[in-house]
Amino acid sequence: MGRSFAKWYDVFMSPLEKNKFKEIRRQLLSKATGCVLEIGSGTGFNFPLYEAAKRVVAIEPSPDMIERSKPKLERAQVPIEVLQASAEKLPFPDDSFDTVIATLVFCTIPDTEKAIQEMIRVCKHDGEILFFEHVKMDNPFLGTLQEWLTPAWKKICDGCCLNRDTLGLLQSHSLTIEKIENYYNGLFIYIESRNNKVKSSVVL
Ligand SMILES: C[S@@+](CC[C@H](N)C(=O)[O-])C[C@H]1O[C@@H](n2cnc3c(N)ncnc32)[C@H](O)[C@@H]1O
Repeated sequence: MGRSFAKWYDVFMSPLEKNKFKEIRRQLLSKATGCVLEIGSGTGFNFPLYEAAKRVVAIEPSPDMIERSKPKLERAQVPIEVLQASAEKLPFPDDSFDTVIATLVFCTIPDTEKAIQEMIRVCKHDGEILFFEHVKMDNPFLGTLQEWLTPAWKKICDGCCLNRDTLGLLQSHSLTIEKIENYYNGLFIYIESRNNKVKSSVVL
């Protein structure tokens, strides 16, 4: 993650956050209970909004993003620990978390298949896996425009892809999708899902 992207991220996001995203995040985070893992926490927009969680572990690969999340960490209402790590290789044992959450991250993660496998692995069976993401739109004209814009957008926005089919990715895994909401004509998607993986065997 480039320094300048980390520097400008909050400035770029502020109008969206104030108008709509804060409320969407608040709704999603109200479902984040127990021991929570946040993937790619960035500058920490979610940190002050956690209320129901017992504790939060946030992973983020970019040291610049971690540094810039510190002021929001101070405004957190629940204990939050930030670790430098990537979604594709989560440094936690199986079944460590009650809730795993990702917001505006699946557009940027290089290996989304590996990331979702890791999220499912570290989340308990029947745990919540929550998303707020921007995705490729269903509208054929706008979807094609997103495909066309992605190479340039990716360079400007540090690897962010406009054309990710994140819902399709989730549907191909052991997740029970419980709620989907679309925003801005399907550009943004809100998803509440439950981890439906096979339970870990208990050795007696
Ligand atoms: C667009 S920002 C979103 C930040 C934050 N989640 C939010 O809701 O504002 C994308 C974040 O994903 C992080 N990221 C990139 N690759 C990642 C990976 N492989 N694993 C986890 N996070 C990653 C970036 O460093 C960046 O902080």
